[in-house]
Amino acid sequence: MKKLMSANWKMYKTLGQATDTARELAAALGELPADREVLVFPPFTAIAGVAGAFAGRAGFSVGGQDLYPAAEGAFTGEIAPAMLLDLGCTWALTGHSERRHVLGEANEFVGAKTAFALDAGLNVCLCIGETIEERRAGRLEEVLTGHLAAGLADVAKDIGPERLAVAYEPVWAIGTGEVAGPADILAAHAYVRAELEKLLPSHGAEIRILYGGSVKPENTGEIISLDNVGGVLVGGASLQASSFSRIVTA
Ligand code: PGA
Repeated sequence: MKKLMSANWKMYKTLGQATDTARELAAALGELPADREVLVFPPFTAIAGVAGAFAGRAGFSVGGQDLYPAAEGAFTGEIAPAMLLDLGCTWALTGHSERRHVLGEANEFVGAKTAFALDAGLNVCLCIGETIEERRAGRLEEVLTGHLAAGLADVAKDIGPERLAVAYEPVWAIGTGEVAGPADILAAHAYVRAELEKLLPSHGAEIRILYGGSVKPENTGEIISLDNVGGVLVGGASLQASSFSRIVTA
């Protein structure tokens, strides 16, 4: 499968800024390398602009950073999958560490969102990863198993490999400049792969496992060449088209 080079713009960029960056990115990249695809998660308010900037460009997709697991209803401030699809999204992010740790989302809620978004027709990138305290306490595998088991609990066991990605993002490496070393990435991704093969026997071996956490143009080449790394999820270094375009082609 192609390497999924994804950008999480978090709560950055107005509609105009996001649309400009998306246009610059599309122009800087031209035709993508055959083994790469680009996926951008803008804030909700900028999705339509980014989707417009990517329209007609093969290999460029847009996703929502979050969703609420209901078709519609009295859920003030929330966004339904149909609303994301309506704006041109083909993907959604679930379980990002900032939603787990800043907004207090529980594993089960992440699982409900993941299953609901997939059923609604969105592809999903499920984020998992341990805090530094959990790692130091020797709980890495336990945390990853918990995130995966609850996150995928209601997902069809034969879900297609193009419909789901898992992003391994050690919380201590997000936005800190401290990237996990190759040995840490290899070990965590191998563990996630084995868990995916157990939980989703049909395609667990093919589902892309992205690495996220202080990915930069300078370290992408090494990270992306590691076993079981099917792409990256980039925050800070994805905000500028010049930097993210170097990551996409690294
Ligand atoms: P970062 O963020 O690249 O700024 O570390 C990654 C993420 O939160 O997905």
